[in-house]
Amino acid sequence: MFELPVILFGVGGVGRSLVRQILDNRQLHADTYGLYIRVVALCDSRAAVLEPTDGLSDAHIEAALALKQAGKSLSAHELGGTQDDLSAILDIAGLPGTVVVDCSATDQTTPALLFALDRGYHLVLANKKPLTIQQEVYDRLTRAGDTQGAFDPARIRWETTVGAGLPVITTLNRLTASGDPIGRVAGTFSGTLGYLMTGLEEGRIFSEVVREAHALGYTEPDPRDDLGGVDVARKALILARGMGHRLEMNDVSVKGLYPPLMESLSVAEFMAELPQLDEHYRDEVARAATESKVLRYAATLVVEDGHVTCEVGPTAVDKDTPLGRLSGTDNLIAFYTRWYSPNPLVIQGRGAGVEVTAAGVLSDVVEMAFTS
Ligand SMILES: NC(=O)c1ccc[n+]([C@@H]2O[C@H](COP(=O)([O-])OP(=O)(O)OC[C@H]3O[C@@H](n4cnc5c(N)ncnc54)[C@H](OP(=O)(O)O)[C@@H]3O)[C@@H](O)[C@H]2O)c1
Repeated sequence: MFELPVILFGVGGVGRSLVRQILDNRQLHADTYGLYIRVVALCDSRAAVLEPTDGLSDAHIEAALALKQAGKSLSAHELGGTQDDLSAILDIAGLPGTVVVDCSATDQTTPALLFALDRGYHLVLANKKPLTIQQEVYDRLTRAGDTQGAFDPARIRWETTVGAGLPVITTLNRLTASGDPIGRVAGTFSGTLGYLMTGLEEGRIFSEVVREAHALGYTEPDPRDDLGGVDVARKALILARGMGHRLEMNDVSVKGLYPPLMESLSVAEFMAELPQLDEHYRDEVARAATESKVLRYAATLVVEDGHVTCEVGPTAVDKDTPLGRLSGTDNLIAFYTRWYSPNPLVIQGRGAGVEVTAAGVLSDVVEMAFTS
């Protein structure tokens, strides 16, 4: 049996679902690949549970999951201790061939990720933030720690950072590997904003759809976290960098669905003020319709003379395109390349949710077993 050591940063929704899926798939991994994923450490924001020598037993893992499910710290675990330095955890628990999985939602893991690469370990990221800080950090992460080195897909995978379990990054890397130049990318990467845009297309009122999405828990507790478009912009930046372009977050033009003046309001005030935007969106939808277009919250990347422009925001798109035909909460990405033109290569499906994201992370981990 091939044993693959795994250290996990972040035991929130995605991290817990990943660990559950590792346990549930033990037999399948053994039968199909002769693979045993040995979880050696679990880390949350303040504590860690580790068993460097033999790996954590399934009973210890279950106890950790129960604690996190109950909203507690891993420090309450029988094997738990506080941690304020993830690199130190890697130093103690890391073994040759270790895969470090980042399911946190912070860029504070970055030094430990770089430390892991220095140690020769492998990375799997669901966390977008380390890939969307400085270009130099992106370069080091994707080039095995060396900005001058070659892109090394055997050392890092980040499939779930764009479109969750959908094979977006894999497809982008395959297009790049085949020398098929990507001229344009158009995508929607937020189920929440897809829900909103579909509502507007059906003639519903902006404030009403936002309030409904909020009440149903489709938005973040503060809906501006979705409506501002920053998360979509991070995904656009990851795509642009993956296409080989060098740019920073402030090179991505982001237009949110509310004016900057509403940023300082409390959530309750913001919700109360929403109707003042209704007329604007009614007009935008009507204007798009006169040109046989529909409004989508889109990320659009266009390459001209080797330079990429990257725009994120409400966009009128032709009805007769993959993006124009999309409705509901699915994510969609269309790659327009030399070989995929005028009809693009299209990937569509559920682009969020802890289970589907964890499944994508697990695929990345299993694939690492065959490249390490
Ligand atoms: N949910 C989705 O549909 C989805 C889809 C694609 C990608 N993602 C990405 O997946 C990641 C995880 O999402 P989630 O929904 O599971 O988030 P979450 O529930 O907020 O969990 C985040 C976890 O990270 C831990 N954490 C925070 N700071 C840390 C630190 N400095 N060191 C180690 N751990 C730290 C938290 O610890 P505590 O438990 O102590 O707070 C928590 O366990 C995010 O980056 C998200 O963007 C999510």
